[in-house]
Amino acid sequence: MKQNIIIDEDIESCMAKAMEGVDYDKLFVLTDTNTLQLCWPTIQNFEFTREAQTITIAPTDEAKTLETLAYVWTALQQGGATRHSLMINLGGGMVTDLGGFAASTFKRGMAYINIPTTLLSQVDASVGGKTGINFGGLKNEIGVFNCAGSVILNSTFLRTLDHENLLSGYAEMLKHGLLSNEEHWAELLHFDIAQPNYKTLQHLVAKSVSIKEEIVEQDPTEKGIRKALNLGHTAGHAIESLALQEGRTVLHGYAVAWGLVMELYLSAKKCGFPANRLHQMEAYIKERYGKFHYDCKHYEMLYNFMRHDKKNQGSNINFTLLGGIGDIRINQTATEQEIEEMLDYYRES
Ligand code: GLY
Repeated sequence: MKQNIIIDEDIESCMAKAMEGVDYDKLFVLTDTNTLQLCWPTIQNFEFTREAQTITIAPTDEAKTLETLAYVWTALQQGGATRHSLMINLGGGMVTDLGGFAASTFKRGMAYINIPTTLLSQVDASVGGKTGINFGGLKNEIGVFNCAGSVILNSTFLRTLDHENLLSGYAEMLKHGLLSNEEHWAELLHFDIAQPNYKTLQHLVAKSVSIKEEIVEQDPTEKGIRKALNLGHTAGHAIESLALQEGRTVLHGYAVAWGLVMELYLSAKKCGFPANRLHQMEAYIKERYGKFHYDCKHYEMLYNFMRHDKKNQGSNINFTLLGGIGDIRINQTATEQEIEEMLDYYRES
């Protein structure tokens, strides 16, 4: 299950390392319509990509469907792919998730490489082998755990990301900081993400990914400690669902950032997470991510979204909480009243 994580400032040498010793008959590159225009030209004339066939899909999460998956399978079939072919997924989490699933299932599985082009996918989706599509109105409902052979982390494509998308990815890095130790967490808080030094960012991404990898290695299929990576996500997914229902656009990382504040409040209340760290994180997030606004009439909806999160078992709402930075407490539950208090706390903060 261990992935080869390749970090280098030169994208061509990253690719050379990823392809070294990989024996394949045909190469396919999956892009979305954005990365076809913005990212593919950067790598298209390298020695190993010249012969590649591109497959292009729509860029949004709404296209993460069975139909799009069938389109990719068909393109592979018509392009003469075999079990010994290789797929490169060039894009954000939608491309790496769907492409990883397509490659994992085509002729019972061909090898694939991820080149995540957004910060969010570099630090989260492309690492750890979660692949899949949305189905029946539920996100990531169908899929398999199957790691990419290599994941290339290169800051070239991050330079064209807008500030909101950088911040969105940075929220997952803050989560990894909270799960690791005071030193890395403080380093993240001091880094200037508004005017990033991309070399330092690449170094921080490498650290962030190694934190995720260490957790995934211990528990690849999320039976135990991998649940740590859900910190901020129980509340965050409820925020995303409410926003979706109300037609408000919310980037995933923003919802995670707000969810982190909520769940750190619960951590302070139930597990002794230090109040000063909660307040620091709260101020940091409010300043950069703003606030998610809701009122009491939304509580029931938010509560129900949390109850229906697919990570729950039975009627309990499952949270990952912290006793302190790096002190992870998985399988925590909260009562409806505690959740109401959490929603009060965030609304009034
Ligand atoms: N996105 C959390 C995980 O990969 O487990």
